[in-house]
Amino acid sequence: MLNQYNFDIPFNCKNSHHYKWDQEGKDVRYPLGVADTDYHPPQEVVDAVASRASSGVFGYGIQPAEFAQSISNWYQKRHNTVVLPEWTSYTPGLIVAVKMFLEALTDPGDNIIIQPPVYFNFKNIITRNERNVLENTLVLADNKYHIDYEDLEKKAADPKTKILVLCNPHNPIGHAWSREDLEKIADICNQHHVFVISDEAHSDILFNGQQHIPFITLSEEVAMNCATINSGGKTFNTNGLYTSYVIIPNEEIHTMFKQVVVKHHFEFNMLGGFAHIAAYTHGAQYTDEMVAYIWQNVGYLREFLQENMPEITMIEPNATYLMWLDMRAWNMDNDELHSFFQSAGVAVNRGDMYGDAGKGFVRINVACTKAVLMDALHLIHQSYLEKIKGKLPS
Ligand SMILES: Cc1ncc(COP(=O)(O)O)c(C=O)c1O
Repeated sequence: MLNQYNFDIPFNCKNSHHYKWDQEGKDVRYPLGVADTDYHPPQEVVDAVASRASSGVFGYGIQPAEFAQSISNWYQKRHNTVVLPEWTSYTPGLIVAVKMFLEALTDPGDNIIIQPPVYFNFKNIITRNERNVLENTLVLADNKYHIDYEDLEKKAADPKTKILVLCNPHNPIGHAWSREDLEKIADICNQHHVFVISDEAHSDILFNGQQHIPFITLSEEVAMNCATINSGGKTFNTNGLYTSYVIIPNEEIHTMFKQVVVKHHFEFNMLGGFAHIAAYTHGAQYTDEMVAYIWQNVGYLREFLQENMPEITMIEPNATYLMWLDMRAWNMDNDELHSFFQSAGVAVNRGDMYGDAGKGFVRINVACTKAVLMDALHLIHQSYLEKIKGKLPS
């Protein structure tokens, strides 16, 4: 099929109150940290927002039935998974949804497991809500991350442990977990009555035709003990619309979740909702082409590092546009690494944002144009030649 989308178009959004380009990008040439893409959303998404905006209808809304139906259709077509529309609820962001689950299913002082290095707002939302973080730290061996199941089992067995927040695919290591891993996690959590929140924010971005495995598909028993949180934000570059959803097949838990939503009194976001419906209705080919484009960028990054800065090891990804670089051979702490990248003119995320397990690493977002990626890499390389290469052991 012919390509319909051009991901080489420069994404110019300076001076538009855009966090990536106006804040992170303030003092550098290229911001490659925060997890927004540099791609224009599909035109249908822009049109959906524009059409609602130009109608001037901004009064209280009614959630259109198409919202839940579009989630059901997307999971069916993209992930071969049955999601009944009534299992879904709108949420204004994935991390808000985590907060709602904490309130619905746990008490202050309860334990919540996370698997660092992992998306930093998991820890933030748990600790800010007076719950206790238990870290089931991933183990890096042979350039690949593994789950320490013995440790997971020990932590899950503590009676105060109530939830595991799973990141699948896992940000920042760029890894979609295998069925075997997911089943082992599910077995441990089911056995110890630990509820699983499966964050599938990056589930549309898997490489080489690999299929995302939604946690709810593992078995009926698993589906009753888990919830999915997701949105089109990462795929369609609509994070700022704060429109996401949960999938909760367990009716009783869904009811408890909705009771918490009522307490917080948040309602459906009409602009975000129409954007979401348009994205999930018209965005399949865009997604396929974008994933192929990003995979090429991953290849450019891998090749560039191997040729020019071979001491940096890219953790080989099978998902996401967030590449996790092991910089430990440079023997610099994260403050030094941060200064190095900033002075080279490229913003990346510090590895220690993701927990102690991220010390000596950085995360770079390759969902930009090839031109931006190559120029950013040349800037980094130039600085490396000036400041780093001579100091490395030969
Ligand atoms: C795994 C993961 N979950 C959640 C989020 C944030 O979602 P939201 O902004 O909807 O809370 C991100 C953003 O980078 C993410 O990578």
